Amino acid sequence: MIKPVEVAVFPVGGLGTRFLPATKSIPKEMLPVVDKPLIQYAYEQAKEAGIKQFIFITGRNKNTITNHFDHAFELQKVLDEKEKKAMLSQVKDWLPEAGNIAFIRQQEPKGLGHAIYCAHHFIGDRPFAVLLADEMYLSEKPFMKSMVDIHNQYGGNVIGVGEVSEEKVSSYGIVAPSGATDGDYFTIKGMVEKPKSEDAPSRFSISGQYILQPEIFHYIEQAKAGKDGEIQLTDALNAMVKDVPTRAVPFRGMRFDCGNKQGFLAANIAFALSRKDMREETLETLKTLVNQADDIPVQ
Ligand code: G1P
Repeated sequence: MIKPVEVAVFPVGGLGTRFLPATKSIPKEMLPVVDKPLIQYAYEQAKEAGIKQFIFITGRNKNTITNHFDHAFELQKVLDEKEKKAMLSQVKDWLPEAGNIAFIRQQEPKGLGHAIYCAHHFIGDRPFAVLLADEMYLSEKPFMKSMVDIHNQYGGNVIGVGEVSEEKVSSYGIVAPSGATDGDYFTIKGMVEKPKSEDAPSRFSISGQYILQPEIFHYIEQAKAGKDGEIQLTDALNAMVKDVPTRAVPFRGMRFDCGNKQGFLAANIAFALSRKDMREETLETLKTLVNQADDIPVQ
């Protein structure tokens, strides 16, 4: 019997070195796209996919994430007294119910595989989702929901992927498809973390969303330190695909990798354009900036 996906893990313990100095004291997951932190988008996407419990793998310096998912009593009291209903709703209406959220310290930044392993006692023998807050998608149906639908049909592991250019394969985990790749999903026979372009088995990159069977913890235990001396989830999954059917779900809409500056900038513009209350003004701002670009001093 295929068990439903009811729990999600959010690895948020990373140091965010690609965004210094902004991330010196603010976790990169708290950087806003328009007016909402990256981590809240990831959480909302999981929630829309039917997930009910949320586990965050945090580290030192990440307390603002914990606070963001809690009530802010002073602020709520003032907004309540002033009858600022819309603002109050933005502060609290999306919070998880008490008891459905947990924070686990990773203690040492030893890689994505290690981060996920920190949740293994709390996951037990259930399938679970993993969402990396860096990656954002613009689509009507949440990408994670499409992945949950494939999981409910077939079980096994389900990995979100997106096509990238040849120059970018070395920034991602890259999957090796075992057949045609033009449907809603395709099966995969292996994967490799951040290969050189000449060694990449395809241009389908792992896009930071996974549904994993609990057996993954066994493969993480066996994994040796890989790329960058870290325990890589990609290596554990590569060993696991030989034993457990693993499907890739390609995302064919607009994807933004907010783990790099250009992706983050593009996400801010695209998400502003996607909002009724901001679209027109954003277009005007863009036009003005393009017209004035030559006058902007370049350093
Ligand atoms: C991680 C994964 C990689 C994946 C990427 C997606 O890398 O290890 O396989 O393609 O996320 O954003 P990171 O960006 O954390 O280095």
